Amino acid sequence: MKNVIRVASLIAAMGVVGSSAFAAAPKSIANLQKAYVGETTAASKYTQFSADSSRRGFKAESLLFRAAAQAEEIHAGNHAAVLREMGGKIPTPGVYHMPPSHNLTNSQVVESHLKDAAKGEMYERNIMYPTMIKQAETEHAMKAVNTFQFALAAETQHAALYKKYAKNLGANKVAKVFYVCPVCGATWEGYSPKNCPTCGTSSTEFKKVR
Ligand SMILES: [Fe+2]
Ligand SMILES: [Fe+2]
Repeated sequence: MKNVIRVASLIAAMGVVGSSAFAAAPKSIANLQKAYVGETTAASKYTQFSADSSRRGFKAESLLFRAAAQAEEIHAGNHAAVLREMGGKIPTPGVYHMPPSHNLTNSQVVESHLKDAAKGEMYERNIMYPTMIKQAETEHAMKAVNTFQFALAAETQHAALYKKYAKNLGANKVAKVFYVCPVCGATWEGYSPKNCPTCGTSSTEFKKVR
């Protein structure tokens, strides 16, 4: 009889934990919210940088920003889905406000966009997501770990692309197409592997950004 009561209490306790992920994983919830605002802000920023770069005659850079914006939207959607599952509130999406660029040449402005973007990606890659992954692991919030890992892998690619484009400014060729994995936001310029190395999705599913 005692065992029956013990099992019943255990199941009841599990129910409480299951229905209150916030109490169980408060840091992961807060981090998902922060990352959601970060990703939506990045998508807003890159969309504006894309339009601005195109207007200034930098087509290759414009396409890169457009592809990366799509990837950030995928990350934001993934974070939101996990938040929803964990019972966390989804914040208002972030909006970027582009500063005026008085007295700068077109190439200086586009270079500053690329350097700004690379800096943001490096922060996410080196500090933000590794910290969030560790905290989610500590809280056993494995779905949060997973969405943070997807973003981390794509931000690593973005950082490399932005750095490369900043270095070659004025000499970047317009890539025919960028491929973006619709599941994890992985991004490739001009070519894609058969399957996404981050999440295994087949290349037949990849979004083509051109
Ligand atoms: Fe990114
Ligand atoms: Fe993927």
